[in-house]
Amino acid sequence: MQDILRKEYSRVTEARWQCCDRRHGRELNTPFSTERSAQLEDDEGKSAASKQKPQPTKSIAPDAPQKMSSQPPHPALLIPGPIEFDDAVLQAMSHYSESHVGQPFVNTFGEVLSNLRKLFQTTDPASQPFVISGSGTLGWDQVAANLVEPGDEALVLHTGYFADSFADCFETYGVKATQLKAEIGDRPQLDEVEKALTEKQYKILTVTHVDTSTGVLSEIKALSELVHSVSPGTLVVVDGVCSVGGEEIRFDDWKLDVVLTASQKAIGCPAGLSILMVSGRAIERFQARKTRPTSYFGSWKNWLPIMQNYEAKKASYFATPSPQLIHALDTSLKQILSRTLDQRFAEHREASRRIKKAIADLGLKQLATKPENQANTMTAIYLPEGITPPDVLPSLMKKGIIFAGGLHKQIASRYIRFGHMGVSVTDSNRTDITKAIASLKESLVEVGYKA
Ligand SMILES: Cc1ncc(COP(=O)(O)O)c(C=O)c1O
Repeated sequence: MQDILRKEYSRVTEARWQCCDRRHGRELNTPFSTERSAQLEDDEGKSAASKQKPQPTKSIAPDAPQKMSSQPPHPALLIPGPIEFDDAVLQAMSHYSESHVGQPFVNTFGEVLSNLRKLFQTTDPASQPFVISGSGTLGWDQVAANLVEPGDEALVLHTGYFADSFADCFETYGVKATQLKAEIGDRPQLDEVEKALTEKQYKILTVTHVDTSTGVLSEIKALSELVHSVSPGTLVVVDGVCSVGGEEIRFDDWKLDVVLTASQKAIGCPAGLSILMVSGRAIERFQARKTRPTSYFGSWKNWLPIMQNYEAKKASYFATPSPQLIHALDTSLKQILSRTLDQRFAEHREASRRIKKAIADLGLKQLATKPENQANTMTAIYLPEGITPPDVLPSLMKKGIIFAGGLHKQIASRYIRFGHMGVSVTDSNRTDITKAIASLKESLVEVGYKA
């Protein structure tokens, strides 16, 4: 049965990518997940799953899930976001209802914005934090709608799936996106970026700090230095959705123009907030636009005064924020900042080193082969020949561990992703990482793998 499922999975995954490519020119992402009943259709249109004997709805062994503090027992969520939450962050969300323009809430929002400056390591008063309801994707929309105008050129450095999406977002706003691609597992080299920057005048360059589809880490500091020396008019935009809070980022020192992220990854807060830090230079570029921002909800014309007012603890309204999520973010930021950031980054590096060593000891390879290309917040792991995500993910789930399936369209059925961020790494009372490594080993042995 495993074999049928595996073949069906590979066939359907590839067919889906192709069909979506043909019809829309864009891929629909359909990664395998153990928490979604896989609808693997065969030629007669019946699902492979429906041909199996009915499965008990609770497939998790009663003793498998961990008791995590005061949360109900549940499998450890070790996908590359959302991640496990600290109790206090979750409890912050059960705040009683309050007015979004009342002083207590405005004070909290103001503190969140000030604390974000610390998280991004900026003391430049011209830098501007934004926190807007939405997911990480809204960060791309904000960049494309506010910092470039239709007809402008954007250079998108590609290390996986998320660059394709950012480029698509630019095109949606009439901005011409040129992608500079690397082999899967690698990143564009600095000399290639330099060549691209000298060939055309780009208004903006984007780079994914950690591409969540490949686990590839980009070198932000050196890249930004290069852009500032070769093409000083080009804004440097970092997609930090899978990095902020786990990987080192020095907004001022590295002269970045935008770092965009979301609440649900290494920041350790529930999903629902688009978070950005924007440089004074980028704000000036926005203010000098010849055309209106090409979005209404995402327009900084609307949001800039609101964010400035909130930080000055003055009530202000453009669109209703989510007070409960802001309270959760307030709590997670205070927890993060209660220790040094260097300590936090070192803990993520150490957990990552341990995981990568265990993967190598198991005889497995990562998508990112060069150590300098390997993210500290996640690991993308090639499965042994002949084994696919549907073989191992359900078995991991039974052991109380949730990993993610592959996401890069060319190799989606050949690898899995292990997210290691936030409390799973920093809370010494948790055994998530140790348990995940042991469970992966056991699950592979169960499906016949011999290291
Ligand atoms: C690197 C990266 N960028 C952007 C996004 C989009 O974020 P969201 O799914 O929160 O919209 C993701 C999501 O996982 C991501 O990993």
